[in-house]
Amino acid sequence: MTSIPKFDSIKPKEILLGVTGSIAAYKALDLVRRLKERGFEVSVALSRGALEFVTPLSFAALSGREVKVNLFDPATEGQIDHIALARRADLYIVAPATANFLAKAAYGLADDYPTTLLLATEAPLLIAPAMNPVMYQNPANIENINRLKARGVTFVEPGVGDMACGEVGVGRLAEVAEIVAAVEKILGAPGPLVGKRVLVTAGPTIEPLDSVRFISNHSSGKMGYALAEAARALGAKVTLISGPVALAQPQGVERIGVETALQMREAVLAYAHSQDMIIKCAAVSDYRATVLAPRKLKKQAEWSVSLTANPDILAELGKTKPAKQVLVGFAAESENIVAFAQEKLVKKQVDLIIANDISQPGLGFKADQNQVWMVEKDQVTSLGPLPKDKLAQKILAWILAHPLLGPRLL
Ligand code: CTP
Repeated sequence: MTSIPKFDSIKPKEILLGVTGSIAAYKALDLVRRLKERGFEVSVALSRGALEFVTPLSFAALSGREVKVNLFDPATEGQIDHIALARRADLYIVAPATANFLAKAAYGLADDYPTTLLLATEAPLLIAPAMNPVMYQNPANIENINRLKARGVTFVEPGVGDMACGEVGVGRLAEVAEIVAAVEKILGAPGPLVGKRVLVTAGPTIEPLDSVRFISNHSSGKMGYALAEAARALGAKVTLISGPVALAQPQGVERIGVETALQMREAVLAYAHSQDMIIKCAAVSDYRATVLAPRKLKKQAEWSVSLTANPDILAELGKTKPAKQVLVGFAAESENIVAFAQEKLVKKQVDLIIANDISQPGLGFKADQNQVWMVEKDQVTSLGPLPKDKLAQKILAWILAHPLLGPRLL
């Protein structure tokens, strides 16, 4: 068991990755994936040479962030992005690093994004060179590497093997796993939820009345999606079971789309047992049509619909939950928030209810901000109001710092 992190102190580590113009640049794509999987956030800057081998779009898709190429881009450099990026980094990696990059780095030249970041950052530096073996052994290159080592730069030494140019020798970019191991040696343990499975449900369910009409609710899914992303950023393997929402699939999260409460129940039960934590954020429709009209019903002066209660998925989970699993429910309340949430806590046998006041304009359903109450049997803590992404991070940090719930996850 690792030590319990301090509430509020859990933020994913920020890595800056500079990619320069080597045939091995494509391996940096895999590096971004592996680092994200381990719970790191990654911002990428490419040299002009790198653009000959890989595209900014590939890195943007994998990192989920804008990729930096042009130091003189008026759209972003108005806020002097390269300085902001350099300040935010916990580690700056350059992989693959060419002989040209190493020479510029050794002498403090800054004529592109990766070299400028190098001068502008105070973060530790990790360089993984890749080049032809003769170029690697060239005394000028060796001198540059030694200069950088003398300044405290860590190197992930290139490997021996067949080179893309057909020669054999030292110069192949180190394996991605080796680079990741070197990163973790410098930055310490990655996200506290690495190796843990977290299931989040989000959005509304919709319950058809006939082939075109349905009943549903106003849930936008934003809070659940923010929680899924925040858990992923802490290193968890996240499954998101989502009703119909207008939100993009979060990076690195497995999403299962469902429509009705019964479909959501089936998906949740299939995954529930293997999860370390389940957060049931979805606004499940409490009722479905007792009889589903097979086609569109014609208009008539009155229409009475008979509704049947849907099974309560959270209560089912509460009954069968493994002892170590953390089970979290949400409660949407418009009055007596804490008292009603405490009733749900007991009735559904969950560890925690996160209650929102849905009567507050600008908060909760559909809104970008939310305020919640973390409701336990004998204690209530209020978090927010905050934007939902920040609130999601705070909720998870609170759970991890909780004296009973945190140790079950760490
Ligand atoms: N929930 C569920 N299955 C249902 C209804 C609700 O799993 N059929 C879960 C929700 O995902 C949420 C919690 O139960 O985590 C509370 O949902 P909420 O709608 O606030 O409460 P209800 O139990 O439906 O009670 P009420 O509508 O009477 O307040």
